[in-house]
Amino acid sequence: MKITAIKGKLFASQAELIVLPVFGNSTVWMNDCDEVFKQRVIKLAQSLDFTGQVGQSLCLETPAESSAHELLLLGFGDKTNETLMEGLREAMGLAIQTAKRRGLRSMAVELSATVFKPESAEAVSSAALLADYSFSTYKKSHYPKIDSLEILAGDGKTAQAMRKYIEQAEIVVAGVTVARDLVNTPAQEMTPKHLSAAAQTIAKASGGLIALKVLDRAACTKLKMGAYLAVAQGADHEPQFIHLSYTSPRPTKKTLAVVGKGVTFDSGGLSLKPAEAMMTMKCDMAGAAAVLGFFATLAALKPRVNIHGVIAATENMVSGKSIRPGDIVRAANGKTVEILNTDAEGRLTLADAITYALKHQPDAIIDLATLTGACVVALGEEITGLMTNDKKLGQKVLSAAVQAGEKMWELPLEPRYRELINSDIADLRNIATSRYGGTLTAGLFIQEFVENKSWVHLDIAGPAFAERPLSSYLAKGGTGHGVRTLVKFVQSF
Ligand code: BES
Ligand code: ZN
Ligand code: ZN
Repeated sequence: MKITAIKGKLFASQAELIVLPVFGNSTVWMNDCDEVFKQRVIKLAQSLDFTGQVGQSLCLETPAESSAHELLLLGFGDKTNETLMEGLREAMGLAIQTAKRRGLRSMAVELSATVFKPESAEAVSSAALLADYSFSTYKKSHYPKIDSLEILAGDGKTAQAMRKYIEQAEIVVAGVTVARDLVNTPAQEMTPKHLSAAAQTIAKASGGLIALKVLDRAACTKLKMGAYLAVAQGADHEPQFIHLSYTSPRPTKKTLAVVGKGVTFDSGGLSLKPAEAMMTMKCDMAGAAAVLGFFATLAALKPRVNIHGVIAATENMVSGKSIRPGDIVRAANGKTVEILNTDAEGRLTLADAITYALKHQPDAIIDLATLTGACVVALGEEITGLMTNDKKLGQKVLSAAVQAGEKMWELPLEPRYRELINSDIADLRNIATSRYGGTLTAGLFIQEFVENKSWVHLDIAGPAFAERPLSSYLAKGGTGHGVRTLVKFVQSF
């Protein structure tokens, strides 16, 4: 989709579908068209109960002076600043859906009102690009892609200023798309080797800014990654420990580490999942996908911070070699873990990945993991659970998430729950002694490996994989959740 911003009027556009934002309780829309047409539209809108509220849309014929096929009115509700950007994204998602359904391939949207600052172009462009996505490797998409989107600004200066926001959206959504494709690809193909190959593609395309190191089973054994290797021991596919490092071309003293859970399929291991729960478990590498999608943006964005990306990729499978409940393993930092449920495997892989990341002296660590079903119970399918040992860092990630349009909510790392992961015969047990608060005890488990480094843990089990659409612009399947937040975060780190 080619996105442009120009100074222009809606009814003069050559696009097939023209889109007009309508604010609730406002009557100043459609100022540029013929008065008779305007009155007809207002009457029609009233009779169809279109009042300009968020989520409302109305597809109409176009006035005589327009060459467009259809006019789409989109409700924006009240124009408060907090809701405006998400309103724009939501509305653009609807607009793209409408265009696709009607086979219209060129669109124009008017953002001339004074409420639309140049930043609006980022929200509009990213929602449009996200909404146009389809995973078509195995089934051709029903609808063609949109060819063009024209953003019509009120004046030339605003149009000019919008261009850098469009470019930013294009780069970021390209990264989100990398993550979505990886998550949607079935586990039969999306093996640890496939993940490391994806990392290699990203490193190769970076013009020397990103280096890649991949450790195999033997190399991980040398580094005594007993927790990670315990998960990998039951799988026929070779584990791949992936380390990407981006070196900023601009001078910087800051280092960030992002760690992604990369379980390419989670059967539960010997603590086998029920059939229902296993159906979506190709998504258990969504944290890794977010890290890779994020790295895919770095060569273009060139943020002023050095970044390590760490993924301990493996399957969690059932075989004669699988780890057993009751087995005790030693993690890379020397701590012993009694494994009482082989389905709590993510924290084992993350433990060794974080120990590895610490060796590179990051100022902060962010991990992303589809870690607990309990997080989906607590926050639902759309919201990530954020846990942190550093309030300030947590706030920065939360505010990046708001700007990016991804939903996150802080959950506590309650010190009193720490004793729930004490084992009688090892340093830790991998599941708590209580059935309750499973997201928090998983977070507390990971905290045992961060050695007081500033750290944010994102449990993305809900929004990483949408079993129903997350919004008008994020369809079912892999969402690439996390990529947009990481980019916003790193741009202000
Ligand atoms: N990968 C799952 C968590 C998950 C569940 C992700 C639903 C996405 C959607 C994780 O490895 C797991 O199985 N966790 C267990 C932990 C339990 C054994 C303490 C869970 O949530 O049931
Ligand atoms: Zn599991
Ligand atoms: Zn898992």
